[in-house]
Amino acid sequence: MNELSAAHDAAVTDRERLTRSAYIGDRDLAARQSLYRWQTPRYDLPGMVAEQLSDVRGRVVDVGCGNGTFTQRLRRDRPDLAVLGLDLAPGILDGVSGPVAVADATRLPMATASCDAALALHMLYHVTDIGRAVSELSRVVNRDGLVIASTNSDGDKAELDELWRRAAGDVLGSGKGPARISLSARFSLEKAPVFLGEEFGHVETIELPGTITVRDPAPVIAHMASYRAWADQHDVPFDATVERARAILVDRIARHGAFEIHCKGGILVCRR
Ligand SMILES: C[S@@+](CC[C@H](N)C(=O)[O-])C[C@H]1O[C@@H](n2cnc3c(N)ncnc32)[C@H](O)[C@@H]1O
Repeated sequence: MNELSAAHDAAVTDRERLTRSAYIGDRDLAARQSLYRWQTPRYDLPGMVAEQLSDVRGRVVDVGCGNGTFTQRLRRDRPDLAVLGLDLAPGILDGVSGPVAVADATRLPMATASCDAALALHMLYHVTDIGRAVSELSRVVNRDGLVIASTNSDGDKAELDELWRRAAGDVLGSGKGPARISLSARFSLEKAPVFLGEEFGHVETIELPGTITVRDPAPVIAHMASYRAWADQHDVPFDATVERARAILVDRIARHGAFEIHCKGGILVCRR
């Protein structure tokens, strides 16, 4: 998807949808995170972020911290840091222990230059005004502060998109069906440096390519079903398409022994 429609942007950034459906709890986010268990090579993303923060002392804010994967890991590995988790969705913070608060990335509740690092991991694509969120991240970190963002490439998990279109086509009886929504497209790995470059003189992109290989359809189908908050954005019955995808996958794994998905995520390390 190259040209993103206004309707796409509105759906991906819709606060009601984010707080009351997509991230009302962590079921769907956890399903997407879990698929990486079958990735080769396996990247320890929270460990990589902790490594980037090895010279940082003091206060770190994890904006859009979700179910706390990074916040909790940092608290465990770097007890010397004061880590604050912030998220727009109160429900997803339920299971995150330690200091957390409900807050919007475009209006961070902290003083200028009050943090030593800020994280915005797999979240900026959900923000309506990405530029404003980037300038807020820049405002709250001090002069030598570090901002770390992460997202996926435009070509990430293309096989899943293909599987969706085939399943949707079968459901509609129309060959290839309509594409599914892309969550990260607004702030993909290719677009992110332009947004971040507005505030930071140095933006280093660390690409993380890999291949997910599954012999059981369950984690792939759980990942696909995790888009249920956006079911109405697909011009095809959502549940029927997920079930058709399951049948296609069962058949493909029976014939080929496995199903492969090529992934490309990445981390962006930003300094002034
Ligand atoms: C895909 S999850 C990523 C969670 C976590 N950072 C991770 O990488 O595991 C996106 C998170 O961003 C949050 N979010 C979306 N829009 C936000 C905003 N404007 N301000 C703060 N958080 C937001 C969502 O509620 C959700 O928890």
